[in-house]
Amino acid sequence: MPNFITVQDIINRKNGPKIVMLTAYDYPSAVLADQAGIDVILVGDSLANVVLGLKSTTDVGMPGMIHHAKAVRRAVKTALMAVDMPFDSVSAGIDEALVHCQTMVKETGCDAVKIEWCDGCLDIIRAVTAQNIPVIGHVGLTPQTAEQLGGFKVQGKDALSAKRIIQQAVAMELAGCFCLVLECIPSPLAKILTSKLRIPTIGIGAGHDCDGQVLVMHDILGMFSGFRPKFVKQYANCSAVISQAMTQFKNEVQSGHFPDESNEYQMNDNELKILLKDAEN
Ligand code: KIV
Repeated sequence: MPNFITVQDIINRKNGPKIVMLTAYDYPSAVLADQAGIDVILVGDSLANVVLGLKSTTDVGMPGMIHHAKAVRRAVKTALMAVDMPFDSVSAGIDEALVHCQTMVKETGCDAVKIEWCDGCLDIIRAVTAQNIPVIGHVGLTPQTAEQLGGFKVQGKDALSAKRIIQQAVAMELAGCFCLVLECIPSPLAKILTSKLRIPTIGIGAGHDCDGQVLVMHDILGMFSGFRPKFVKQYANCSAVISQAMTQFKNEVQSGHFPDESNEYQMNDNELKILLKDAEN
């Protein structure tokens, strides 16, 4: 029995237990996520906002995603590791998109890529899965094209737009996605999608009927001071812990309490004597 999670394992989880996905963007946090038993670790393009201080997820490109994904790959031993394809890598047309997906897998060693719904995405997904690269789809509120959707708001609230999301989700499944992220849609719509699709659904702001849940690591840890949507649950207040430690460090350096003897290296008495003598001359 291999002791790592495969794409087939995720597909099999359609019938439970629930799939747990979490973002990670660097080595130490990915080690912790892997050790915590997270099933899928996603190097999300949310890293643009969360760790790079950029305005939009579209502001991160292939070099940035690859840089962070490589660090995460070094850490992840058990979870399935997926990487978001950045906006400019898939919006350049099918041939370039395919090359970018192949580059992402080759350079980072990721197990899957995630592609958000956008014009032309179905041809890209067909081409990428034909090359045996597993693809996670993403419908509903797709941050890369949020402007076209009227901004960061719940999608599919009326029957017409809900039907459009169902069509997109079914089309992504048919194109070859092995699971689907549902972002910021009403719970009843997510429930319909979850029973309609053969592949697992992983919700973020899509209610409890999905086959799994995903959140951004910095949101659950209380480490992101930007906008916090209603669907986020904060499980810790790491910002407060980190601030407190930094302030204490500053205070102890200034007061002379750090470093103390336990943090210092000593010298052999004889060697010190020689040194002091030499220093006198
Ligand atoms: O970029 C991201 O973090 C994501 C997840 C939140 C699904 O796409």
